[in-house]
Amino acid sequence: MTDKLVYTKNIYNGSREELINEVKAALSAKRFQHVLRVEKMATELADCWQVDEELASIAALTHDYAKERSDADFLAKISEKKLDPNLNNWGNNVWHGVVGAEMVKDELGIYHEDILNAIRQHTTGGSAMTKLSQILYMADYIEEARDFPGVTEVRALAFKDLGASVGWQTAHTLAYLMGKQVRIYPGTLLTYNTWSVK
Ligand SMILES: [Fe+2]
Ligand SMILES: [Fe+2]
Repeated sequence: MTDKLVYTKNIYNGSREELINEVKAALSAKRFQHVLRVEKMATELADCWQVDEELASIAALTHDYAKERSDADFLAKISEKKLDPNLNNWGNNVWHGVVGAEMVKDELGIYHEDILNAIRQHTTGGSAMTKLSQILYMADYIEEARDFPGVTEVRALAFKDLGASVGWQTAHTLAYLMGKQVRIYPGTLLTYNTWSVK
């Protein structure tokens, strides 16, 4: 149970309740509730796949920390951190993960690379994903308020074959984006080629 989880690893310099308060202050009430549901799902998946629940909790609580920041904030951070200049051509969907991880690091003092990578990859995935990254990617997609055709099946799949569920999500997201004929972030294609191709 997430409400009984006590942080002991000093990854975050404070308690779970203090981290929750920092995240709450950065987000709308609606998004904050989503974040709590992602944490619940992520810790359940962590328990299933023998990943540390404290890592899953911290990654989930902070994954959307930067989601409501301005474009100007992200562009400034890309420049300050000398991140790939191609990032300038994308938008909030890509930035809040890839660039948001830098804000989590600088503002919340979380330096654990597996957690930061899971945040970086939570929207687009990646060709190399740790179990923690796969868990966050899936928990964001299947948290209990999500409702789309196939959600029950993919929820069950995430507890049965985590990698296959990553492939399922990526294939469905890509099909949806292509249906809308929007630009596809190259990282999403790499995720598809690694996890979705049969
Ligand atoms: Fe997100
Ligand atoms: Fe999210």
